[in-house]
Amino acid sequence: MAIRALNSSLIFDRRVILGLLACVVLAFTFAFLYSPDLRPSTDWIPPLTSKPTSTFTAPPKNTDDANIVELDYLAIKPNVTDKVRSYWNIPYAATAGGRNRFRGPQPVNRTYGVGRGQKPLVWDGALGMCPRIQKIDPTQRNREDIVGEDVLGITARSTEDCLSLNVFTPFDAEAGDDLPVLVNIPGGGFHLPGRSNGGEMVEKARREKGVHGNLDKGIVVVTMYYRNGIYGFLSGEQIAKDGDYNNGLRDQRAALEWVQKYIRYFGGNPDHVVLMGTSAGGASVLLQLTANDGDHHYPVPGTGRKPLFHGAIAQSPASPTFFTPSQAEKFYNEVAGGMNCSDVTCIRNASPGDLYFENYPMNFPGRSTPPRWMWAPTTEPSGGMFTAPAPAAIMSNHYAKVPTIIGFTSNEGSDQVKKTTDNEAEFKSYLKDHYPLLTDEDLDTLVKTYPNDRHWPDSGRWWDAVAKAQGDIRYICPTYLTSNAMAEHNPASVPTYQYQWDVMWGVDIENGFGTKHAGTVGQVMVRRQNEISDYFISFVKFLDPNKEPSSIPREGVKLPKWESLDSTGRRMFFTNIKEGGKRGDGTDMLGKMRTEMRGRDGQREASCGVVRAMFRRLQMEGVEAITVD
Ligand SMILES: *[C@@H]1O[C@H](CO)[C@@H](O)[C@H](O)[C@H]1NC(C)=O
Ligand SMILES: *[C@@H]1O[C@H](CO)[C@@H](O)[C@H](O)[C@H]1NC(C)=O
Ligand SMILES: *[C@@H]1O[C@H](CO)[C@@H](O)[C@H](O)[C@H]1NC(C)=O
Repeated sequence: MAIRALNSSLIFDRRVILGLLACVVLAFTFAFLYSPDLRPSTDWIPPLTSKPTSTFTAPPKNTDDANIVELDYLAIKPNVTDKVRSYWNIPYAATAGGRNRFRGPQPVNRTYGVGRGQKPLVWDGALGMCPRIQKIDPTQRNREDIVGEDVLGITARSTEDCLSLNVFTPFDAEAGDDLPVLVNIPGGGFHLPGRSNGGEMVEKARREKGVHGNLDKGIVVVTMYYRNGIYGFLSGEQIAKDGDYNNGLRDQRAALEWVQKYIRYFGGNPDHVVLMGTSAGGASVLLQLTANDGDHHYPVPGTGRKPLFHGAIAQSPASPTFFTPSQAEKFYNEVAGGMNCSDVTCIRNASPGDLYFENYPMNFPGRSTPPRWMWAPTTEPSGGMFTAPAPAAIMSNHYAKVPTIIGFTSNEGSDQVKKTTDNEAEFKSYLKDHYPLLTDEDLDTLVKTYPNDRHWPDSGRWWDAVAKAQGDIRYICPTYLTSNAMAEHNPASVPTYQYQWDVMWGVDIENGFGTKHAGTVGQVMVRRQNEISDYFISFVKFLDPNKEPSSIPREGVKLPKWESLDSTGRRMFFTNIKEGGKRGDGTDMLGKMRTEMRGRDGQREASCGVVRAMFRRLQMEGVEAITVD
């Protein structure tokens, strides 16, 4: 803080006295906290079992650097720019390696930067990220590099000690500001850690003059790493007996509990938390809404129960097939067999490299090609945390009732399927690799529903058909039906908003790719302002996409009111194709973004009816749980 010239010696004296007093109090406090006998013992467990108190007092600032945040188990120094503080890699659970493999997230059992002589954690450009998936081809797998090239934009260190989260705050956020919190669960198909920089979103959400006419510092963003691949999703009877499964999703839940306990120290409001995610991150958001049979509360000793989150945005959520017990068993045996192990203890004792070598995409029993994204949750027995695929749970009214925005892109399947697909047999075999329980009759129905009637340059003649089928099955229909179901089941006070993203770039309009899977993510988590993030940021702040755009419109941008979804099926349509244009036209048909409310799409209604009828055999409903006798 700058020291200004003082014109009253009385004030001066008082300040000096107060300052000295504060120093004495602080010195006693530190001596008390950090004297070795009074420090937490090694079995002291901070985040997961101890809970926040209902009263909050902002702690004194660190005297060396006011940006440093000190928690009961951690002191951390952010990377600072003139707009954002980025607190990278805050551990929210213990290492997931060794004896913690295939167990739910365990409490952090050590301190970081707290205690005599310890320096705060400082991000040094080497993030600990959860391991990514290997190549299918065994000759391309390795035992050393457990990060690989797929991680976006940041130097990363390989480790199973990867259960950490990142907090991004406005540069001037203060503990107790209680800014709305956006928790983004990155996607990555449950195979890789995804995009995790929330700093640009923080910059974009700031308003020098907010809806109340004053400075609005904006929002606090949290992103997290959670276990992928076999680390997060291997199951089977052995693990059910001695461990946990669906740990990737359990990790996310632990991160949400961490937010409840600690986000106030960063300036966030634990009573205003909005989840967001795209693709597998969107799937995760929907699964968190359905966890524990839709109960999104957690117990706070002495004060009752509080919700973990208050709103949610799911962009292009995938709808993963849940594994049946026999599928889960096959995957488990493949991993254990590859490591010459006959029990889980042996797998837990194996070296990180040996386990990493087995983290590859596997094919379903009876098939020889793995699905594009094969790792997925396994149904837990009744009373468990994740007992049904999210669309089925939501359609049967078992989910947390919070305001939501849910949507999909026009061509979710085009970059997800084999471009070379050239005949009916290849179409069917691709779908059977993904959904092995489909019958021949189902496959014939799908051929009829997605006819091979559009052909594109440099692609197989059945590419368009298989892209439409997979786009509908894995992404569009479960999302569409989920969103509609919420409009039906939510009480009138809890709105849900639906969108379709039909924005294309460059040659994607003429080469057939169209509006690819998850195309919104690159619009939202970036610094650049645009229509969809205007609505989203308003929703994060007010649980209402219209409040900010209508009261403080951006210059030259007029956004229509985004009506909440009801039985008329009206939803927000984002497009940049000129009036009258369509996919297949030349790039001269691409123009400025248009946003408009559109009515129900009859064709979608029909094809999603077909997909809905196959939900059981698509492993999106009624998938049997693992039982252990
Ligand atoms: C913390 O737990 C891990 C495994 O969960 C263990 O290896 C380690 O020794 C523990 N550390 C302390 C300080 O207890
Ligand atoms: C860290 O801060 C520097 C400026 O101090 C900035 O240029 C850089 O982008 C920041 N990096 C991250 C990943 O936050
Ligand atoms: C498993 O056993 C085979 C055959 O003995 C051996 O080649 C392989 O290296 C072993 N794998 C591991 C991970 O120990």
